[in-house]
Amino acid sequence: MNEVMKVIKSRRSIRSFSDEQIKQEELDLIVEAGMYAPSAAGKQAWHFTVVQNQRVLDEISLEAKRIYRSMDIEFLQNLGSNEQFHAFFHAPTVIIISGAVNSIAPNSDCAVAAQNIMLAAEALQIGSCWVSAVAVLSQTEQGKKIIESLGLPEGYAPFNSIVLGYKKAEGLTAPARREGVVTYIRKS
Ligand SMILES: Cc1cc2nc3c(=O)[nH]c(=O)nc-3n(C[C@H](O)[C@H](O)[C@H](O)COP(=O)(O)O)c2cc1C
Repeated sequence: MNEVMKVIKSRRSIRSFSDEQIKQEELDLIVEAGMYAPSAAGKQAWHFTVVQNQRVLDEISLEAKRIYRSMDIEFLQNLGSNEQFHAFFHAPTVIIISGAVNSIAPNSDCAVAAQNIMLAAEALQIGSCWVSAVAVLSQTEQGKKIIESLGLPEGYAPFNSIVLGYKKAEGLTAPARREGVVTYIRKS
């Protein structure tokens, strides 16, 4: 199978990591993959914050869980109330992806960068998972303080984050893909 297809099909969300930190040269490649994603009008209006400080990640997780508990979504309320749940799964590295809020499509820009990051990680046999927790922080004063402490460029806000680490457990095989999700429109 084509190498790119192999990586795309083998990537699964990983939520259990060894304590060993990933290598700097691996991290550099992964961040570079994010930077080479497409972006609206080619503006590259994103910022990557690499966090390898568990105290900072614990603080974000605690506040995100507090916010989840106050949200009107039962799934998130349950996560927020679960003492065992850590939003970043104790991953040794997290990349917070922020975008310029007044740019053309910051959410999409940050999403495609996130996917490039996850695919690059998989190509290096590093586990990854998208974590949305950072996107809710702006809902509280404490969350806003945490965002401020990240030192983002002016006008930027976090849209998503990717946890990274050596896999403790392999992901399961991808479930079968839903059928009937493709329509062709061709010349009659
Ligand atoms: C927009 C988006 C938000 C997500 N948010 C979270 C999250 O906050 N926490 C988490 O553990 N996984 C999150 N995920 C990962 C999905 O749960 C995961 O991709 C999905 O279950 C499919 O599994 P797979 O990635 O192994 O194919 C998110 C994925 C996407 C695309």
